[in-house]
Amino acid sequence: MPDRIKTLELARSYVKSRMEHDSSGHDWWHIVRVTRTAKLLAEVEQADVYICELAALLHDIADEKLNESKEAGLRKVADWLESAGLEASDQTHIMEIISTMSFGGGNKQPMATREGQIVQDADRLDAIGAIGIARTFAYSGWKGQLIYDPGLQPRNQLSKEQYRNGQTTAINHFYEKLLKLKALMNTETARLLAEERHQFMELFLKTFDQELETGQTPHI
Ligand code: ADP
Ligand code: NI
Repeated sequence: MPDRIKTLELARSYVKSRMEHDSSGHDWWHIVRVTRTAKLLAEVEQADVYICELAALLHDIADEKLNESKEAGLRKVADWLESAGLEASDQTHIMEIISTMSFGGGNKQPMATREGQIVQDADRLDAIGAIGIARTFAYSGWKGQLIYDPGLQPRNQLSKEQYRNGQTTAINHFYEKLLKLKALMNTETARLLAEERHQFMELFLKTFDQELETGQTPHI
């Protein structure tokens, strides 16, 4: 069995070299934050810390936005796991987590294992709160979306047609996804952590609207 500490170090340098210069919100520091949160959740929830840490490190290597296809991305992760000499059952577990954890892709099935639930929660926690707000605007800029479009109505229920035409904005993304994440947390610990981050996003949106409408920032 390969030394776990060594495998984690290899994973860190592999992922860092690939994500260091990403500006779509998937940079190396996103991975660092998700990994730290995943380890914390794994300890509190008494799950397998090693599996959670390794899956968190590798989780965005397969992202569709950064690969030719989802399959090509998943193949990259599978090849890496094989080359690192991981035990077959660990390889299968990590592949199962990474291939099922994303919000999109029509995948509404609950995560099959506690470790999967934890890594998904850690990734979702990094999409909300102050950091989630920052990532949303970074991603929007990368994609060429507007911050906000007052003409786009209703802002929380765009039609499929509007999405297809790329009419969505950074502000719309809060209604489309970010405000829904709190209720989707799998673990009790993540639910607690999500609560304050959620409130902070609500305050942000309220203040954004007030500045927009009155030209003034309310006392907060
Ligand atoms: P994750 O790392 O959680 O898998 P995604 O790949 O879904 O994240 O997206 C990366 C970041 O960009 C996240 O913070 C997400 O909320 C944000 N994001 C994703 N899609 C959009 C969008 N259409 N508009 C603005 N932000 C987005
Ligand atoms: Ni991620």
